[in-house]
This record gives sequence, C-alpha cells and structure tokens, in this order.
Amino acid sequence: MTRTAALVPAAGRGERLGPGAPKALRVLGGAPLLVHAVRTLVHARGVDLVVVAAPADGVEGVRAVLAEHGLDDDGPGRCATLVVSGGETRQESVARALSVLPDDVDVVLVHDAARPLTPTSLVERVVTAVRSGAGAVVPVVALADTVKRVDRADQVVETVDRSVLRAVQTPQGFRRTVLEAAHAAADPAAPATDDAGLVEACGGTVVVVPGDEEAFKVTRPLDLVLAETVLARRRAAGVLD
Ligand code: CTP
Ligand code: MG
Repeated sequence: MTRTAALVPAAGRGERLGPGAPKALRVLGGAPLLVHAVRTLVHARGVDLVVVAAPADGVEGVRAVLAEHGLDDDGPGRCATLVVSGGETRQESVARALSVLPDDVDVVLVHDAARPLTPTSLVERVVTAVRSGAGAVVPVVALADTVKRVDRADQVVETVDRSVLRAVQTPQGFRRTVLEAAHAAADPAAPATDDAGLVEACGGTVVVVPGDEEAFKVTRPLDLVLAETVLARRRAAGVLD
C-alpha cells in the first residue's frame, strides 16, 4: 500500500495582510485559515496524511488549534496530522515538511494554509492527475486583468498576450521522487514561490488541471472580506465546512 500526503506551508507572517497573528492563524468564520485548509485535505478522498509547517515559535500552538478542531485524531479511517517547525521561506517550510514523510508515501501535495476555501473536488482532481501518471500537476485559472510588462522607470514596455498566461493555485501535486529531486536541486538563496517552479527549474514537465476560483489565496485584507462572504454563502446553502 502506498499513501498520499499533503504538506501545508503555514509558517508565513502574512505581512501583506497587515498587523495581527501569523496569517495561518487569522480567523475566518470562527476558525483559523489553517483549520479550514487542513479540514479540506482531511475530507478529500485519497489524502492519508497531512504535515503542517507551523511558525517556528508556534508549533505547540498549532498542535493545540488542530486538536481543538478535532483534526489531530489518527483513529481508524481518519487522516493523521503532523506538525513541524517551518522555515524562513516557503520553500524551506515545504522542505522541512517533506523531510519527515514516512517511506510508504509516494504522492505528495503541497497546499497553502492561506487558501482556506479550496473545494475538496480540486484536491481530488490533482491527486487523480498524479495517480494517472503525471510527475507534477498545478491547478490554474485564466487571468481576469490585462497584463503589461513595465521597466524600472514604470513605463509600459508591452502588453503581454493574456491568452497564454495562467494564474497558479494549490494544491500542487507531485510524484514524491520528482518533488524530492526538485527540492534537493533548489537554491536556498533564490527561493521559489511555488514547488512546480522548482520542478521546471530542473527540466521536469509540469501539467495543468483546471483550478477553482474559490481556491483563491488570502493575501491582502480585501481577500479576507471576500472569504467571509463566500463562507457565509456556503453555510447559508447548508454546505458543511
Ligand atoms: N509560508 C511558509 N513559510 C514561510 C513563508 C510562507 O510556510 N516562511 C506559507 C504561508 O504561511 C502561506 C503560503 O506559504 O500559507 C503562501 O505564502 P504567502 O501567501 O506569501 O503567505 P505569507 O508569507 O504568510 O504572507 P506575506 O508574503 O504577505 O508575508
Ligand atoms: Mg510570503
């Protein structure tokens, strides 16, 4: 039997969100962003283990938060949840979570704690694509805005052809060997903002699957307002979270 693990980088400070607790612990609809993200992974079919990379000074706090929300249980049919100390960069946080995986894990997802409303269907789509043979998979959405390249003087150089651009979400999915090789080859001095970027950098193939607009990342204050509205709408429709 082989297993699928989901790594959850949650060690960021959330500087763009403004002052307050680390972003993963900021509250949305009564529960921290991290709890929403972990719950989705635990509920998704095919995820057997979750490893959270917590802020270095917040490992015990994150364990307590997960326990408080019933996400620490490793009973029959339940998904085990481990917590490790994250690093200075997202890349380092993912590497630390990757380093504690048991031997029987052969497929690895990496999912931002900052994407609390990601539907389970998206998680399952990514797992299916990797289990069907892809080495690296990213969910993508089309861009809404026109995109322009600018120079250092803030002058527009050109309008980029939007039809060939995609915004990339998480969870990203990998064959474990592919992700480990990419992290082993990565330059800690020039960290990547996503894991597929590391695979690309060492010549690997990355395929796309359709993303989901509700998998948006909470980055700035307005994203939290949007997330509250989406969650309230789900709850009013009786969707469990
Ligand atoms: N992350 C992490 N370790 C870091 C930095 C980021 O685990 N050293 C995680 C964040 O917790 C988040 C995800 O990576 O779940 C995506 O990063 P981002 O949205 O940039 O979050 P922050 O780094 O927290 O936000 P900011 O860049 O605004 O400070
Ligand atoms: Mg960041």
